[in-house]
Amino acid sequence: MTETNAIGRDFWNSSAGRSWVEQEVLLDSMNMPAARVLFSSAGLLPGQRVVDIGCGGGATTLAAATAVIPGGVAYGYDISEPLVKRARQRAAEAELDNMIVELADVQGLTVPDHLRFDIAISRFGVMFFDDPVRAFTSIRNLLRPGGRLSFVSWAGLEHNPWFRLPMEAAVARLGPAPPVDPNAPGPLAFRDRGRVEDILENAGFRRIASRATDIELPMPGGAEAGAALARHVGPVARLLKARGGTEEDREAIFASLGKRLKAFEVDGELRIPARINLFEATAP
Ligand SMILES: C[S@@+](CC[C@H](N)C(=O)[O-])C[C@H]1O[C@@H](n2cnc3c(N)ncnc32)[C@H](O)[C@@H]1O
Repeated sequence: MTETNAIGRDFWNSSAGRSWVEQEVLLDSMNMPAARVLFSSAGLLPGQRVVDIGCGGGATTLAAATAVIPGGVAYGYDISEPLVKRARQRAAEAELDNMIVELADVQGLTVPDHLRFDIAISRFGVMFFDDPVRAFTSIRNLLRPGGRLSFVSWAGLEHNPWFRLPMEAAVARLGPAPPVDPNAPGPLAFRDRGRVEDILENAGFRRIASRATDIELPMPGGAEAGAALARHVGPVARLLKARGGTEEDREAIFASLGKRLKAFEVDGELRIPARINLFEATAP
């Protein structure tokens, strides 16, 4: 059998996974408003069994584990060894013995019937599957009958300068990026709500609903910190590689990005407008 998500597995176990650990403080700050949208939809209650899909370094798993005390448990599953290690460390630091983190590809993951979950959540952890219908079928099977799914993904580039501006800065310097399948696994793969609703339907979910929500991404340290973060996460590295960019190109791109991000500085902090999609569904 061929290994599923081989490209994603390599990506999240390479420098990308390590960068997410190293940049945890800024990423947690930036992604906090998305967590608020997710948790207000999930409405977690004490005693519930929660599963966090693509839990990364565990910020949302930790919050879920705390929300379901007493009596509940939060499992996090992720394909990235460095991020799983970090999430386990955070559980230990917080002395949360109801937070359990496992290294796993969620696409194809199963649990015995008696361990199924009341609710599955994810913040930006579900857009990377090479077979989304199969992956969401697995997620549905992780849930008990009547169990709920709530997750957030990014909307399109036009609503998300955090993704658009680095691309624009890179394209201005290097020329257009080589064409790629816009629905290929990646952070923006779930920008089209209709497409994702079809995936959920085909994976056997029912009572499917989605809505777009506008938020701001707060980042202490202003435009400089934002441009520095974009060196470690985001699309520029791929374009530099594809176009054979030099060190000089890299420096020019991030200097230009720093200038573009200035438009979103408020009192020395970045507040970048963003749009995310919230999806909710039920396992029959
Ligand atoms: C953008 S990060 C989000 C991490 C975390 N949910 C957060 O909000 O901080 C995406 C995460 O999905 C994980 N991931 C990607 N493909 C996966 C798969 N097939 N199974 C499990 N996790 C996966 C990655 O390793 C990464 O940690």
